[in-house]
Amino acid sequence: AGSGKFFVGGNWKCNGTKESISKLVSDLNDAKFETDVDVVVAPPFVYIDQVKSSLTNRIEVSAQNCWIGKGGAFTGEISGEQLKDVGCQWVILGHSERRHIIGENDEFIGKKAGYALSQGLGVIACIGELLSEREAGKTFDVCYQHMKAFADAVPSWDNVVIAYEPVWAIGTGKVATPVQAQEVHVAVRDWLKKNVSAEVASKTRIIYGGSVNGSNCTELAKQEDIDGFLVGGASLKGPEFASIVNSVS
Ligand code: G3P
Repeated sequence: AGSGKFFVGGNWKCNGTKESISKLVSDLNDAKFETDVDVVVAPPFVYIDQVKSSLTNRIEVSAQNCWIGKGGAFTGEISGEQLKDVGCQWVILGHSERRHIIGENDEFIGKKAGYALSQGLGVIACIGELLSEREAGKTFDVCYQHMKAFADAVPSWDNVVIAYEPVWAIGTGKVATPVQAQEVHVAVRDWLKKNVSAEVASKTRIIYGGSVNGSNCTELAKQEDIDGFLVGGASLKGPEFASIVNSVS
């Protein structure tokens, strides 16, 4: 782990029912968090209110996406204002599933980030390369391009956490090695230093996502530039998620 408070997010993606989520929240309420870590869970939109009102500890709540601007005639969308209204503190933006399955592009994602920040939400800004891009030696270029789109749109990095999620590691059980993750985190931090400022580079948390679980988190957490995790599948199991939160010593 590097500088700043360790940050662990659980991205529940499009999973859960009222019943399974009530069980998960009750497991999270029973969990012991031993260290001073920021803990955030991201339920599907329709369960945010339920989760927010049933969590009894300091876990914060994130959405998995939001609209690009103020609400209005945008059928099917949820605005940043509405997220704030139900007590949500964070929003995940630029997740690979939204980039590659839904087709969101850099500019759209960047604008969403700028607007969400203006509404007082924290942004979990996701970046990361496809397997084909890694094999073509383009990992850094892709990450820099994603970073630039965020940098062009955000007025301040104070409430931004960067999540490096190599697409080939998401939901595949094929976690990046600590060395592979650390290498990209350093490159992203250097990019921030050159393109934003040394202060932002040292303060901004860069977390890793992609097949993180209770058994591989400790080695990853030891890396100098890994400041936390964004966990998918393993965040659906309360005790395992708690063990990941407690992986940083
Ligand atoms: O946002 C977290 C995510 O994409 C990682 O998913 O299931 O590989 O932990 P998973």
